[in-house]
Amino acid sequence: MRLVSALAVVILHVAGALASTCCNQLQQQLGDNLSFPNDATYNATVSSFWSMQESGLRPACVLRPATVLEVSKALEILSGNVECEFAIKGRGHAPAAGFANVNGGVLIDLATLSSVSLNQDSSVASVGAGAKWLDVYQHLDGSGVQVAGGRNGNVGVGGLLLGGGISHFTTKVGWGSDNVVNYEIALANGTIINADRTHYSDMFHALKGGGNNLGVVTRFDLATFPQGDISTTTITYNISQRADVFEAFTKLLESPKYDPLASLITSLLYRSTTKTWTLSSSAVYTKPVTQPAFYADLFAIPHETLVNNITSLAEYADEKDTFSFNWNFATTTLKPCAENLQKMFDTLNDTIYSFNPEGGVTWSIALEPLVAAMLPNSGDTNILGLERAYPGFVVLISALWPNSTANSEVEAKAQSVLSAWEADAKSKGLLQDFQYLNYAAPHQKPLHSYGKDEFDFLKSTSEKYDPGRILQRNVGGFKL
Ligand SMILES: Cc1cc2nc3c(=O)[nH]c(=O)nc-3n(C[C@H](O)[C@H](O)[C@H](O)COP(=O)(O)OP(=O)(O)OC[C@H]3O[C@@H](n4cnc5c(N)ncnc54)[C@H](O)[C@@H]3O)c2cc1C
Ligand SMILES: *[C@@H]1O[C@H](CO)[C@@H](O)[C@H](O)[C@H]1NC(C)=O
Ligand SMILES: *[C@@H]1O[C@H](CO)[C@@H](O)[C@H](O)[C@H]1NC(C)=O
Ligand SMILES: *[C@@H]1O[C@H](CO)[C@@H](O)[C@H](O)[C@H]1NC(C)=O
Ligand SMILES: *[C@@H]1O[C@H](CO)[C@@H](O)[C@H](O)[C@H]1NC(C)=O
Ligand SMILES: *[C@@H]1O[C@H](CO)[C@@H](O)[C@H](O)[C@H]1NC(C)=O
Ligand SMILES: *[C@@H]1O[C@H](CO)[C@@H](O)[C@H](O)[C@H]1NC(C)=O
Ligand SMILES: *[C@@H]1O[C@H](CO)[C@@H](O)[C@H](O)[C@H]1NC(C)=O
Repeated sequence: MRLVSALAVVILHVAGALASTCCNQLQQQLGDNLSFPNDATYNATVSSFWSMQESGLRPACVLRPATVLEVSKALEILSGNVECEFAIKGRGHAPAAGFANVNGGVLIDLATLSSVSLNQDSSVASVGAGAKWLDVYQHLDGSGVQVAGGRNGNVGVGGLLLGGGISHFTTKVGWGSDNVVNYEIALANGTIINADRTHYSDMFHALKGGGNNLGVVTRFDLATFPQGDISTTTITYNISQRADVFEAFTKLLESPKYDPLASLITSLLYRSTTKTWTLSSSAVYTKPVTQPAFYADLFAIPHETLVNNITSLAEYADEKDTFSFNWNFATTTLKPCAENLQKMFDTLNDTIYSFNPEGGVTWSIALEPLVAAMLPNSGDTNILGLERAYPGFVVLISALWPNSTANSEVEAKAQSVLSAWEADAKSKGLLQDFQYLNYAAPHQKPLHSYGKDEFDFLKSTSEKYDPGRILQRNVGGFKL
């Protein structure tokens, strides 16, 4: 026993020494932009993660590169030493521990690379990979054009686009990643390339869903589209209306003419402290139309509140961020079926109704349409394999809770709900293969869910551009 702990101490010392070697090497070249535990900059980066699980990790040092060349230099150094573990952080909104932070290693915080510019003819917006969506929407506000990005403005451009990207415009222009026309990316060895439809086209394709497995993207060039004000309607219902709401939601998914201007999320919310359920729909329409006809059935169901606003994208995305909670995400994709939604509710209620850890837990189940109109119609298709996954809806099971002693219990509850739903859906032929990477739990396999050809393509592209497998071995996240 004593020998084992002595060995553990030795190993910890070696790991610490290796991390400090990596940090020292970086400091020699990038001095001022490297910070260490207790520095104000280090603290600011580590406390800017959205989940407590991520902000609880302690990197040995934090690099905030001021330029793309500094990203390149850093990767050249880090890939030269196979022992240097590192993490790549956009805006830190992926909740799982170790996806964009690292204990004892080097954290590259891209938040400083956040400039936004619009080209001469307003067709392309160039966005630094460390920007958040609100930076982008505010920059473009009033220009007459917008881009397809996160619905919550605090979310990072980097993580959202590398995992796919669901926006208010998905039915109009496809996924966020479908609208990237060029990536500036630092490969594992530090070489910077620009990947577009004709140059490094394999890299271009792989980045549309491949996560952090291909390199560190430093800039995204995004196709714009004309956009004015939008219409937002939030409707809340008594939970006893759920049968009608599920029916209306399903009918919309099956509608042969899904309105390309619609952006709908129907959600269930449960608070364990009060044992109360809330049911709501966020019915956004990307033209300034009050009560769009497409949502008529949802509006007609007796509701508690209905609030409509005509507003700008920038204003609507300007939400308050919620720090200091633990978070868990998990996902599945299902075919539309109102009866199954009813069954899912019962399974969910049975599993979580009486589970009330110290401090409570709030569950939110978001149902997001995945319809034919969301398949990319251009040649620049993503790698998500969605052709096999529609019609249906993506389910995001999320939970937030303050007390970290409940972490494993909450994760186990989420996993048990998910497996019950999936087993049941599978037996009814309602389970789709797709798992959305940006909503997936660490135990899930979103990259595999794209399909075998897509997965093999991602793997061979990563081997081609990162033959040393640096991003596979030394960086956390969903790996190939
Ligand atoms: C409040 C909230 C709202 C959300 N809304 C939406 C939504 O509307 N639509 C949607 O599709 N998703 C949404 N998501 C999910 C979101 O897309 C993911 O959480 C995403 O990973 C966040 O990106 P980030 O840069 O903030 O996160 P980070 O945690 O910084 O990064 C996520 C992953 O991407 C990698 N990464 C980030 N930037 C780069 C880069 N430049 N190069 C290489 N790798 C990189 C990181 O290493 C990490 O593994 C939401 C999440 C939250 C918490
Ligand atoms: C670090 O960042 C500053 C700007 O914050 C920049 O002026 C400087 O050149 C950067 N690089 C190094 C090596 O200090
Ligand atoms: C950084 O955080 C640590 C621990 O929370 C604290 O002790 C230290 O004073 C902070 N440093 C600065 C400069 O605020
Ligand atoms: C919801 O409706 C039920 C009756 O169906 C009623 O008992 C309950 O009070 C209602 N809940 C709220 C929050 O109004
Ligand atoms: C929407 O309108 C209501 C009043 O009708 C207002 O109180 C609320 O702040 C508005 N919300 C947004 C997001 O603009
Ligand atoms: C949830 O389950 C509890 C306990 O079985 C039950 O009392 C309650 O009515 C259920 N809630 C709904 C909305 O069905
Ligand atoms: C967290 O929960 C545990 C019991 O599981 C309790 O002992 C502890 O006081 C709680 N912490 C806080 C900060 O509430
Ligand atoms: C970096 O990696 C790429 C892809 O493997 C390769 O083409 C390039 O020559 C490498 N550059 C250096 C300086 O080794």
